[in-house]
Amino acid sequence: MLNVTKLTFDHETAPVGLDHAPVFGWQLTGDCRDIRQTMAQLQIATTPDFAAPVFDEVLPGKNSIAVQAIGFAPRALTRYYARVRIKADTSAGPQASDWSAPGSFVTALPVPGREWRAEFISAEDADTCRKSSAGTMVRGDFAVRPGIRAAYACTTALGLYNFYLNGTKVSTDEMTPGWTSYNRRLLYQTYDVTALLHPGTNRAGAMLGAGWYKGVMGLTRARNNYGDRTAFSMQLTLQYDDGTTEIVTTDASWQGTIAPVTFSEIYHGEEYDAALELPGWADAATPNAAPAGRWHGVETVTYPAAQLYAQAAGKVSVRNRLPAQRIFTTPAGETVVDFGQNMAGRVEITATGGPGDVAELRCFEELDADGNAYLANLRKARTIMRYKFAQPGTVTWHPQFTYMGFRYALVVQWPGTPRAENFTAYTLHTAMEPAGQFQCSEPLVNGLHHNITWGLKSNFLDVPTDCPQRDERLGWTGDAQIFSETACWLADTWTFYTKWLTDLVADQLPDGGVTNVVPNIEEHHTEGNWLMRTSPYGMSGWADAATIIPWVVYKMYGDASILRNQYASMCRWVDFMTAHTRGDLFTFMTQLGDWVALDAEPGSFFGATPTALTSQAYYALSARILALTASVLGKAADTEKYTAVYKNAKDAFIKNFFDAEGTLTAQTQTAHILALRFDLTPEKWRAKTVQRLLQLLDERGGHLVTGFLGTPYFCAALSENDCLKQAYDLLLKKDFPGWLYQVAQGATTVWEHWDGRRPDGTMWSAGMNSFNHYAYGAVGAWLYSTVLGLGQQAGTAGFAAARLAPRPGGGLNWAEGWHETPLGRYALRWEKDAVKTNVTFSVPANAEAELVLEPGAQVIATDGIAFTNGTARVGSGTYIVQYTK
Ligand code: BGC
Repeated sequence: MLNVTKLTFDHETAPVGLDHAPVFGWQLTGDCRDIRQTMAQLQIATTPDFAAPVFDEVLPGKNSIAVQAIGFAPRALTRYYARVRIKADTSAGPQASDWSAPGSFVTALPVPGREWRAEFISAEDADTCRKSSAGTMVRGDFAVRPGIRAAYACTTALGLYNFYLNGTKVSTDEMTPGWTSYNRRLLYQTYDVTALLHPGTNRAGAMLGAGWYKGVMGLTRARNNYGDRTAFSMQLTLQYDDGTTEIVTTDASWQGTIAPVTFSEIYHGEEYDAALELPGWADAATPNAAPAGRWHGVETVTYPAAQLYAQAAGKVSVRNRLPAQRIFTTPAGETVVDFGQNMAGRVEITATGGPGDVAELRCFEELDADGNAYLANLRKARTIMRYKFAQPGTVTWHPQFTYMGFRYALVVQWPGTPRAENFTAYTLHTAMEPAGQFQCSEPLVNGLHHNITWGLKSNFLDVPTDCPQRDERLGWTGDAQIFSETACWLADTWTFYTKWLTDLVADQLPDGGVTNVVPNIEEHHTEGNWLMRTSPYGMSGWADAATIIPWVVYKMYGDASILRNQYASMCRWVDFMTAHTRGDLFTFMTQLGDWVALDAEPGSFFGATPTALTSQAYYALSARILALTASVLGKAADTEKYTAVYKNAKDAFIKNFFDAEGTLTAQTQTAHILALRFDLTPEKWRAKTVQRLLQLLDERGGHLVTGFLGTPYFCAALSENDCLKQAYDLLLKKDFPGWLYQVAQGATTVWEHWDGRRPDGTMWSAGMNSFNHYAYGAVGAWLYSTVLGLGQQAGTAGFAAARLAPRPGGGLNWAEGWHETPLGRYALRWEKDAVKTNVTFSVPANAEAELVLEPGAQVIATDGIAFTNGTARVGSGTYIVQYTK
């Protein structure tokens, strides 16, 4: 019995607001092995009964990941249904599936530049808006005739907005329209609002906050970075049964007023005054009870409609709810609520008070050595949440236009006695399907995996941020590229990265330079910060996000459209480096290199590895990725061109950073790791380089002292060079410094600094001490790719042809986990006792795998698979192998 499951449209199960024909994907399940799709039939229709399909084609072959419906030209603002059935060869002979359950997607406006007729309207006062971060509300009434068939609202804002129709918040989306390079790109959201409308007078409304658009943000802590006036824009299309269409838009006839959100910013938090509430303000059924003069006219604000793009999925919403675990008094007498987990999100409070009473919290991450609230590492971020009562009663409240990175909340003011049940934290991040799970017999490693996952949850809030707590929270390109592979193991990040990479391109400079942060909020502030002055863009290991992330995402999801879309940008970045070579060495401004490595001079952020070396290593890596990309895209001339660039870069690396005897001139761990892992070591010197890396490790008592650029690859550089034991030893080190040290210290997320909190309880300088930086969590990829051994065969992508090579070690008795790929789930468990190892694994339908046992393995038993020299080739299914070694 074959089934087609999990239909996707642009890799999402139910996108609403696609402005182009999506690619289609699906998964197969069945109760036999070796399922290989031989053909698929795809139908697309505007009704769920598929009575008159608008597309109905038989598509030969096995593609089920990124299938194009060639010739399907979707209409705007239309709900489409799709279904698929397939034929496949299987171990039980050829089989055919039934139709899948229908999936559906909704299209957006086709070309907003032409079709967007709505004004951007603001309730902010033109004279005071520059200094204000107060919220506003806007609303407008419109008539709906009987006989409405469908209604779609396209909405966006300058600032952040919550959208209401007839008193109801239209969706569970938060922090819309998200953060993009607003100077060039603003996303609008599309909602199917048919069920929220009724014949007669209806009311639309929006509450607006400053957000990333105009609140204080960035390294320079400037405000009004993109503009100084929040504004809302809505284009609501009413489609009637009689075939007619009406469009309702925001315009000068709408009204505006101040909101109860009296202050709201990303870093500083939110203040709310209930006295300013207007119950029923967005509901036409509520009589207008507002005090005279409270509603006033709105003004229109200009934003180029040609810069509006549809967003169909990957929006932020509430993801987890965590009740407070305890409330306690610190030695300093502070009342502190503990949620037990560091995270990014907000606190929802339930408080009972009377007019004028205030409930106020300040969110923070850590307790200091004395057990008191440690607020210094938040730097200038105030991270407050403040609710002022207007009436006696009990309220449940949370902020709307801010978020914080925290595990604890300091109770600054509270009416009565706060109790743990008054507080629930909730997380906010981009909606992504979980894609990986890992467990093993060492609880501290499981703790590390947990912390890595929470680093992702805390820093995938619309853009990949460095950290969620202090006055930073920026889309640092380096952090993003370092963590990208691990992120793909943990969650379905396709939509998240494709969005952010589009902003990377939007902000890429005319000379091809890639900015340090994306969106580049520092665009107009190059003077206010040392880094922006000394190195505003083009930083190795950071700017290489332009090449590395598209490649990683392509490899993990198997859809080359990301390479096509990013290709010009990738070329421009590599060409930029080539243009800035001296003697074939990439040389450009100040480079951060192996940032925050422990081998730095005391108090310095710059690791000991010369930046000339790290820059050249990344130049070579990017050129190599680009050559591979050109080859995947069938661009023969470019493949040749960038292969030559790569070869030159590699030769120059060898010439400049190895001496005549094959010793690396930089005697640091990171220099050796990059030379090995980026394949920049001549074969004849490989063994020597590996030996020297082991010595460098020994000199530190087996501890790493690597920073941002060396750490991600340390374990892999060892295990790929016959040093599996040493790789495990490194991972499993429990004392300072190392991954498990943090876990043993009680960390619930990954720290920015190895010595964020030292064994003696002292902390790294508060000026830069995040306890929720995902960068060092990049070791997560190694847990999946080596401990579990989930990998891919050379030259393949999307796990269509896996290479399963579990590498037990480190004294672990067992490890197990799974990874959800576009084709379905790979799962693997190994278990060892004194004599034998059992491996159980499964391969999803329409995929194939080779199982490569550890060297020296002697197979004792299998359930029907044949090994040649320790390797077996299998199709889909679940298998068991037992071996001795
Ligand atoms: C960020 C880092 C970032 C670095 C680069 C820091 O402030 O938190 O993670 O990559 O700056 O300068």
